[in-house]
Amino acid sequence: MITGTGITKIFKQRGGVLGAREVPALRGVDFAVAKGGAVSFIGESGSGKTTLGRIIAGLETHDAGEIVIDGVPMSSLSHRKRQPYFRRVQLIHQDPYSALNPTRTIHQTLEAPLRLRARQTGRPRSWVDGRAAELLAMVGIDPGYVLPRYPHQLSGGMRQRVVIARALTMDPEVLVADEAVSMIDVSLRLGILALLKDLRERLGVGVLFITHDIATARYIGDDGELYVLYRGQVVERGATEKIIADPVHPYTQSLLSAIPVLHGLERPGAERVVPREMQREGEPDGGCLFARRCPFSTERCESEMPVLGRDGGTEQEHACFHPRRRSVIPVGVGE
Ligand SMILES: Nc1ncnc2c1ncn2[C@@H]1O[C@H](COP(=O)(O)OP(=O)(O)OP(=O)(O)O)[C@@H](O)[C@H]1O
Ligand SMILES: [Mg+2]
Repeated sequence: MITGTGITKIFKQRGGVLGAREVPALRGVDFAVAKGGAVSFIGESGSGKTTLGRIIAGLETHDAGEIVIDGVPMSSLSHRKRQPYFRRVQLIHQDPYSALNPTRTIHQTLEAPLRLRARQTGRPRSWVDGRAAELLAMVGIDPGYVLPRYPHQLSGGMRQRVVIARALTMDPEVLVADEAVSMIDVSLRLGILALLKDLRERLGVGVLFITHDIATARYIGDDGELYVLYRGQVVERGATEKIIADPVHPYTQSLLSAIPVLHGLERPGAERVVPREMQREGEPDGGCLFARRCPFSTERCESEMPVLGRDGGTEQEHACFHPRRRSVIPVGVGE
């Protein structure tokens, strides 16, 4: 079980006429991923998804909050003592090509972490080669073909499978898949998503799925949980199916309104939620982060920040003063 409470990250960006600028990438995010669970984070570009994934995998520091892995708060450990815990979280990068060392064969790529794993678990070195073949078979590729080859000799889909096999060398509890299929040929995406789903079922590994696409979030975790991130804040959280069927936060509603569907599949009487263009960039003064784009914002939204909760008797949690049950409909293609 991996949990985070109040995870906050502020980047300091240099440059510009005003000098250094502080960018709040995460504003007190709480989350939990259980073994075998499926949790999806969705949100637009810049909402903090990658930053959160990197913090959970121990690759990025945070400014406030606590990550707890298997009951152990990471802040209580030295940097060195944290490493074995963070190895239980493995990150799968967006770009399988840059994630693999081009000068190493797949055999060499898998051998190094497997030797480490053999030492950690008291296994003989002879275990390594058999395990490499086993992991490749598990991700659906022929070990005999792939092991002697270099990354550039493989297709994008195969490379991503190798990246997943390498992540599995550490027997992780959670795989963090950050836009794991966005750079893969469309025709191969479903295969990779199906693999992640299958690993969840077969190995009981938890999947934290990061995407800006609600349809892939739904595919990977139709029985899981969905977190909707907007400018570093979780604005809606609950069962994936529930939120897709009945979103209450206007931002989530606008995300769902933007999905194209074929004519004939629209729900009659549904309303489309179209966010306004932001008139002024930058931080609102203490109000809701979405207020300037929200078609339903009121005076209160401009001055007070809503927190995640169940106000209004909704099943899912949301951070909105005016959660409304709006039946939203994906935008029809060709309109
Ligand atoms: N290393 C960094 N230095 C400074 N600012 C950063 C850094 N990494 C991210 N940011 C800023 O933090 C915010 C969140 O970025 P992040 O990459 O986590 O978003 P994201 O949701 O993954 O976006 P995308 O969908 O485009 O991948 C953005 O405003 C970004 O510019
Ligand atoms: Mg990202």
